[in-house]
Amino acid sequence: MKVWIADRLGPDAARLLTQAGYEVVERSGLEGEELGKALAGADALLVRGATQVTRAVLAKANGLRAVARAGSGVDNIDLDACRDQGVAVFNAPGANAVSVAEHAWALILAVFRHLPRAAQSMAAGRWEKSQLGGREVRGKTLGIVGFGRIGQEVARLGLAFGCDVVGHDPLVDAALAVPGARAASLDDLLATSDIVSLHAPLVPETRGLLNAERLARMKAGAVLVNCARGALVDETALESALTQGRLAGAGLDVFQTEPPGERPLFHLPNVIATPHVAASTPEAQTRAGIEAAAAVRDFLATGAAPGRVA
Ligand code: MLT
Repeated sequence: MKVWIADRLGPDAARLLTQAGYEVVERSGLEGEELGKALAGADALLVRGATQVTRAVLAKANGLRAVARAGSGVDNIDLDACRDQGVAVFNAPGANAVSVAEHAWALILAVFRHLPRAAQSMAAGRWEKSQLGGREVRGKTLGIVGFGRIGQEVARLGLAFGCDVVGHDPLVDAALAVPGARAASLDDLLATSDIVSLHAPLVPETRGLLNAERLARMKAGAVLVNCARGALVDETALESALTQGRLAGAGLDVFQTEPPGERPLFHLPNVIATPHVAASTPEAQTRAGIEAAAAVRDFLATGAAPGRVA
């Protein structure tokens, strides 16, 4: 049986499949019908976030039985088309939770302590001690929207920092998931949090979740961090909230369009942007590759499908 790896995953995923007796093809850069045609004869496809698994791809991929995402978000996979074609979908939901949570915290602390500005001014030979005073996070309210594995990891770190942690998730009770955290409605969370960190998946219900109206309901002087998906936030409304000083800052790892190109948002002194690297550590990528490859191996060999997302 043949497994096609369409994004760079590191050697462990391919090794696991080869050792289990599968033929592995590692080739990235194909898209649409071209990818679909190349996949004819492949039993499974492994992707990260770059490859778009569209209906057009699936229509040509005769014989494909499974798609696995080495990561948590499956918004680059057309789940309805997979269901229609009888293609099973898997992901690796917890594999990058620690890396993403640590990156969210790096952004929170960097915004609170103006780290990029401080480093830039030092590199330019300036000493802006009086301009660059920061704030502590201890005692602040940390609101986590999306309380899955990543949100829970952010919460644990928040508790260790001495934050009052509140979580909102329609499927998870924050208080049960992480002792010490409490659950709140989205409106209450936005109105009371000094830091709002987004960790919800991109699904129709969450697209534009933080629209102009909800951003306006956030506590004055709050900081927004987004390491989930750019389309959760109305970026134009966010930019005006930051320009007007209603929000104190933002840490953004994800964008409505990626790559986003040069944007005025990135030049605001209270914005720290990173190029969707929250999960980009060898530790997370190795775990994600192995989990996705193991799901495909077991499904093709035995039909086992624990954790199947579609
Ligand atoms: C994910 O959905 O797992 C992350 O966004 C990781 C990534 O693709 O970089």
